[in-house]
Amino acid sequence: MQTEVKQPTTSEWNRKKVSVGIENHYRSSNTVTLFNGDCMDLLGEIPDEEAMLVVTSPPYNLGKEYERVLEIDRYLAQQKKVIEECVRILHPMGSICWEVGNYVNNGEIIPLDILLYSIFHDLDLHLRNRIIWHFEHGLHCSKRLSGRYEVILWFTKSDDYKFNLDPIRIPQKYPGKKYFKGPKTGQYSCNPNGKNPGDLWVIPNVKHNHVEKTVHPCQYPVGLIERLVLSMTEEGDLVFDPFMGVGTTAVAAVLNNRRPAGAEIRGDYYDIAVDRIKKASTGELRTRPMDKEVYRPPKKSKLAINPFMES
Ligand SMILES: C[S@@+](CC[C@H](N)C(=O)[O-])C[C@H]1O[C@@H](n2cnc3c(N)ncnc32)[C@H](O)[C@@H]1O
Repeated sequence: MQTEVKQPTTSEWNRKKVSVGIENHYRSSNTVTLFNGDCMDLLGEIPDEEAMLVVTSPPYNLGKEYERVLEIDRYLAQQKKVIEECVRILHPMGSICWEVGNYVNNGEIIPLDILLYSIFHDLDLHLRNRIIWHFEHGLHCSKRLSGRYEVILWFTKSDDYKFNLDPIRIPQKYPGKKYFKGPKTGQYSCNPNGKNPGDLWVIPNVKHNHVEKTVHPCQYPVGLIERLVLSMTEEGDLVFDPFMGVGTTAVAAVLNNRRPAGAEIRGDYYDIAVDRIKKASTGELRTRPMDKEVYRPPKKSKLAINPFMES
C-alpha cells in the first residue's frame, strides 16, 4: 500500500514544501517506510546492515491500552527477538538506542534497562552511554518517590561508530571564561560552538498541554530523538523504529533529511503517524524545538505565587 506517491528530490527536501511518499513495504530507495503491522514482519524485509540508527521506546509491559501485560520472562523473550533482528539490520558503524522506563509490579519497580542490558551485551554490542532523560511531570506517588526519569541505553555495533557532537552542542555555562595560566592565558577557554550536552537530558515529556500531544499515552518528544538522529547519523541515513507509535522517530528523521522506517501495529496510531510525517515534511507540524529551555513561570505570575503563604 502507498499513501502518497510523490518522492521528493534533495532540493525539495530542503524547501520542505512537498509531502513525502510513505511506503508500507521496505525498499532501500524509499524515503519513508511505515508499516501497519507487526515489526517482525517489516524487519524480515530489511537487508542486513542497512540502518545507521535504531531508536525506539518499546511497550513497557505496563498494561497501557496498546499492550497486554506478560510475565516478565515472556516479555524479555519477545524483546530479545526484536532486538536480535534490529542488530542484524544495523550498519557496522551504527547505533541502537533503547528508551525505557520502569515496569511496575504490585508497587515494586523493575528497571527495564537493567533487565535488557544483558540481551544487548550478549549480542556483542558496546554500551556508550546510559542517558537519563529527566522530566518534571507525571503521576504523583504516595508510597514511593514519583518517577521523573527514563533511560536511553545507547549501544554501538563496533568501536568505529558515527558520532558527531557539533549539531547537539548546548550553550556554555561560562562562555566568557578565560585561561588564567599557561601559554593560553587570557584566551577564551571554552568551545565557542557550545558544550557537550552530557548524559542527563532535561526535556519536558509529552503531557496534555505539550504542542506535540496526540491521543497516544506514551509519546516521546521529537527533540529527544532529534539529538540522537543528529549526532549518530548523516543526511540520507536509514533510521529504524520497530515500535513507531504515532511516528515521533519518523518525524525527527524527516525534519532532518534522514530516511525513517518502522512499524506500528495499531491502525489508529498508524494513521496519526502518517499524518504527522506528512505535516513534518511540509513544515506544518508543530514540534517543541530541541534546545528550548524548560519553562519557568515568572516569579510574580499568579501561578508561581504560593496562595497559602502570607506575603
Ligand atoms: C511506547 S509506544 C511507542 C511510542 C512512540 N515512541 C511515539 O512517540 O509515538 C510502543 C508502541 O508499540 C506498538 N507495538 C506493540 N507491539 C508491536 C509490534 N509487535 N509491532 C509493532 N508495533 C507494536 C504499540 O501499539 C505502541 O504504540
